[in-house]
Amino acid sequence: MKKERLYPESKVELTPFVARNYDVLLKAASLGRYRSFLKRAVEDMELKPGMHILDMGCGSGYNASLMLPYIGDHGSLTGLDISPEMEKQFRKRFQNSSNVSFLNQRIDIPFDLGQTFDVVFMSFVLHGFPHQVRDVILENMNRHLKPGGTFMLLDFAEFDLKRMPRLHYWVFTHVECVYAFDFVGRDWKALLSGKGFIHFNEFLYLKNYVRLLKAKKS
Ligand SMILES: C[S@@+](CC[C@H](N)C(=O)[O-])C[C@H]1O[C@@H](n2cnc3c(N)ncnc32)[C@H](O)[C@@H]1O
Repeated sequence: MKKERLYPESKVELTPFVARNYDVLLKAASLGRYRSFLKRAVEDMELKPGMHILDMGCGSGYNASLMLPYIGDHGSLTGLDISPEMEKQFRKRFQNSSNVSFLNQRIDIPFDLGQTFDVVFMSFVLHGFPHQVRDVILENMNRHLKPGGTFMLLDFAEFDLKRMPRLHYWVFTHVECVYAFDFVGRDWKALLSGKGFIHFNEFLYLKNYVRLLKAKKS
């Protein structure tokens, strides 16, 4: 049976094939650079032992596996995703980790897990939704963050599509979707300030096309 996609133009609602092979495809497409960039980004997150992390749109759990050594056995990580293929990989990866859990939970509709976290992390998910849906996702993020907790958004940075070198433009506009084109043109610090976030800190990677944006909930 064909799975219904809510946002047919989006590329974050992955096909089963892409979901099954996501990590390998990224590694190959980036000529091996994706993994070293991710390691740096996770270092820059400055996670501490005992932290509780919510990973919205967690995928296969590869990012989570890089975060776990920092938070240790007293920390925890909860991953949310809707893809059965991602769930399978995530559960297999963490079958022996009692401090890691997975929930099949849509993040684009309001939900409440009944607990708050030190960190809410979102990696390459937010750009793939229509802007009004991003508002719902950010409300979900905010609801699950402790006061003083940190939102960590790893995603495309802000840049002007028209000023990209031709090859980069061609790749971006062929690989990404219209929602991503909109995402890179927005001022995310201003948007998050408007939602009560403070103390922004950012790190740029991969020719400044990718950013880890950290913001504290006031
Ligand atoms: C581009 S992948 C990124 C995966 C992971 N965060 C990473 O950086 O490797 C996007 C992920 O978002 C998940 N996703 C898409 N729509 C979702 C939704 N409405 N609710 C929860 N997860 C969703 C997909 O299944 C996929 O695992």
